[in-house]
Amino acid sequence: MGAIRRIGVLTGGGDCPGLNAVIRAVTKSAIQLYGWEVIGFEDGFKGLVENTYRHLDMDSVSGIIHRGGTILGTTNRDNPFHFLVQEKPEAVYRDMSDQAMANLEALGVEALIIIGGDGSLNIAHGFARKGLKVVGVPKTIDNDIMATDITFGFDTAVLTATEALDRLHSTAESHHRAMILEVMGRYAGWIALESGIAGGADVILIPEIPFRLERVAAKIEERKRYGKKFSIIVVAEGAVPVGGQMVVQKLVPESHDPVRLGGIGQQVAQQLEDLSGMETRVTVLGHLQRGGSPTAFDRILSTRYGVAAVKAVAAGDFGTMVSLRTPRIVTVPLEEAIGEIRKVPLDHDMIMAARAVGVSFGD
Ligand code: F6P
Repeated sequence: MGAIRRIGVLTGGGDCPGLNAVIRAVTKSAIQLYGWEVIGFEDGFKGLVENTYRHLDMDSVSGIIHRGGTILGTTNRDNPFHFLVQEKPEAVYRDMSDQAMANLEALGVEALIIIGGDGSLNIAHGFARKGLKVVGVPKTIDNDIMATDITFGFDTAVLTATEALDRLHSTAESHHRAMILEVMGRYAGWIALESGIAGGADVILIPEIPFRLERVAAKIEERKRYGKKFSIIVVAEGAVPVGGQMVVQKLVPESHDPVRLGGIGQQVAQQLEDLSGMETRVTVLGHLQRGGSPTAFDRILSTRYGVAAVKAVAAGDFGTMVSLRTPRIVTVPLEEAIGEIRKVPLDHDMIMAARAVGVSFGD
């Protein structure tokens, strides 16, 4: 391989705070350290297949480190290996990965940095197997990617959920109610666990620990006996009752993971009100967790990840993902990051600490 002149970057999957900070770090370091040109594909893998892109320079990434979202756009539906080419009268999907490869070659893009979560990193791996020179950057508020200590965006989501819990506390106390906050996280309970601890929740329900409603009601009763006439409950969208199922809100067939969770908060609220007799209200935090300005931690992590991805390209370290192995940023083979999602281990010290301060997991 000759010297690299041009690289590409794209953001795939659901957005999250810190994407712009990574795009900025990739672009600035590629230009300043190596003199490369940078092409940004629009709307994630859709832009790669449809060849829609823009040139990124120092100017176009200036002043965006604090901005939420992604200046490049993204979708969590488009998969080049299973691409929707016709919607009506019936959906037709085709493997458009060769088209994407041809677009890159025609543009002279010699390596591609893919910023994405589980789905996008799986697609990155598919391209790596086809011979594309790719480096992944682990993104998601869910913090569910293997082979890294943390994904960027998670810290901001936890702060947003914690602030919501702080606000729910005062109204719960005034009205003597049980307040339920449903948070995101897909099949992992990281957001619920960390925001629950930080926000002083009384009950935290996560997918990793199936719950019994009677145990939740018992916690509310116990608090009443101590004179606490309100309770705060954090429910992960993937939380399940013992012997029950996750609550699916909708299906998005063209997505890498078609299942969209949501609704468990409402279910718990209704049943809990019947069981405990305490007036109960639900707040679904939803996409507020994905929006807005990244925390300082996420801005720094995103910057480190972006620069590390560019350095991996320069070193010819392809088919990899940048990863935080505290305190260092390293690269790991993409195979180690995909295939399985990272759940909260049952013996995690955060679970122990939460229990020690009186949190119930409904078990
Ligand atoms: O993976 C990020 C995430 O926000 C999940 O926490 C959530 O389940 C899902 O994406 C929501 O997806 P959509 O943006 O399609 O509603």
